[in-house]
Order: sequence, then C-alpha cells, then structure tokens
Amino acid sequence: MRSISLRHRAEGRSIGFVPTMGFLHEGHLSLVDRAKDETDIIVVSIFVNPTQFGPNEDLDSYPRDEKRDMELLEDRGVDYLFLPQPSEIYPEGHSTWVDVEGLTEGLCGRDRPTHFRGVTTVVTILFNIVLPDIAVFGQKDAQQAFVIRRMTHDLFLLPKIIVAPTIRHEDGLAMSSRNKYLTADERRAAPTLRKALLWAEHMVKEGENDAAKIKGAIKDRISEQFTIDYIELVETDLLRPVNIVEDEVLIAIAARIGRARLIDNIIVKPDLS
Ligand code: PAJ
Repeated sequence: MRSISLRHRAEGRSIGFVPTMGFLHEGHLSLVDRAKDETDIIVVSIFVNPTQFGPNEDLDSYPRDEKRDMELLEDRGVDYLFLPQPSEIYPEGHSTWVDVEGLTEGLCGRDRPTHFRGVTTVVTILFNIVLPDIAVFGQKDAQQAFVIRRMTHDLFLLPKIIVAPTIRHEDGLAMSSRNKYLTADERRAAPTLRKALLWAEHMVKEGENDAAKIKGAIKDRISEQFTIDYIELVETDLLRPVNIVEDEVLIAIAARIGRARLIDNIIVKPDLS
C-alpha cells in the first residue's frame, strides 16, 4: 500500500483517505464522495481495529460483509481498498501507543477508557501506510474527529483533516453499522435521540443558555427504552463541559438500547443578535 501511495505522490497525484471498520452504509460512502471532490486517488481502509474495543465490547460480533463492501466501494469509484489483517497492523511485539490527553477523558472516554488510544494509534499507523493528503471523518463520531484533528496538529502529521456531516435515515436516526443490533421495536424508539437534539437546538436558538435545563429537556424527549450513558454540552475543539451556553457548543448523547450503544450529536451556535 505504501509503495502504491509513494508512486502516486511522485507522479503528482493527491491521495484522499477514508478509514473505516466496514459494514459500509451511505454515511461512509458520503465521506468517499467528499474525498473525491478534493483529491485524485481515493483509498478506503476496512479494519476492525481490536485495540479500540474494550474487554466487554462487541469486537467479536462487530458486523462484517466484505463482499458487499467491496461492491459498494467499486460502484462509488474508489481506487484502492486497503484490507489489512490484525497481525499486519499489530505484529508481535507491538508496544507503541499514541495517546491524546484531555479531550479523550470526557464523553465516550469516560465509559470507554482505552477506546481513543486504540483509535489514535491505528489512525496514525494507517496514515503512515497510506500517506494521504487529506483524510475524511464523520461528525457522527464528533469526539473522535476532534481528537484526530488535535493529534494531527500536535504531531505535525501530513494529512488535512476534513469533518463531513452526519448522514441519517429519513426518520432522523444517524446511520451506523451498529443499528443492525436494533430489534424492530428498538428501531422505532431510536429516532428520539435526534428529535431530542433538535429540540435542544431550538431551545438554544430561542435564547436558553442553562446547560442543566437543556440536558433535562433532552432527557425528557429520549424514549424510556434507552439507558442514557451521557448527555453533555461541551465546547467545540477542547470538549470542556459548558454550564452556560455563550458560544458554539457540541451537544452529544450516548445511550444504550438492547444490544446497541448509539451516539449522536449536534453543533449549535446561540443566536446572539
Ligand atoms: P467506522 O465506525 O466504520 O466509521 C468510519 C467513518 O465513517 C468515521 O469517520 C465515522 O465518523 C464515519 N461515519 C459513521 N457513520 C456516519 C454517518 N451516519 N454519517 C457520516 N459519517 C459517518 O470510526 C471508525 O470506523 C473507526 O474508529 C476508525 C476511524 C476507522 C478507526 O478504527
């Protein structure tokens, strides 16, 4: 993969990269389209990265369908699919980790303490293999995108990081490979996450600035079938909790329903005029 990338770069072609864990949907494919707008050659990786799963998480059951994924990528005009084995990414003796401090401690980092270390390590490895000019991530995983932006900046990594909008089903549920875990009944309750976030946006636009009140209103609007892991209002970029909304905020939710843990978020700017 690296020698292919080096050849394209030497011949003056730019490389766009979309890292994924596969079981692709329109959300992933929208990142491919975005990369295509910006670069000559598109590389997608599919790698279910073991180091970002905690001991009781869904590594073994994470959905996979490589054949379908390959067809989707080919139809979308992707030039290369990088499909490494765990033993190639983490050969015996691997002992180097990339750890972004601060931003990884709250939100999903609280319940998944080793998750972001796994993400930042694998993304660094993949960047060093694929050598992209740009890499595209989804706002769906907003904390991940901010953490990768920080890491790329702090370590002077090469690619420019682009964050693309969340693609949703018609009823508002964010597309996710993990939606496969939902029963029909759970699937019907799932769009309440998005509805609650839109209500929070409405509150902020109407002038509400008390984070506790906004969180309370979100909680009231999420189906009782969910167990909420967190509802947080944080500053964009640094992801520090906000008590009074005075500037742009990221409102983020993680909640469990049945076998699935779903996340969603919205970025809202108060209307200060
Ligand atoms: P995965 O969950 O497969 O997601 C790959 C990329 O697709 C991420 O950037 C994610 O934010 C984006 N994405 C997922 N659902 C989306 C949606 N509905 N709309 C827009 N973008 C969406 O995130 C990972 O894999 C891994 O942590 C990875 C970065 C590949 C490192 O292992």
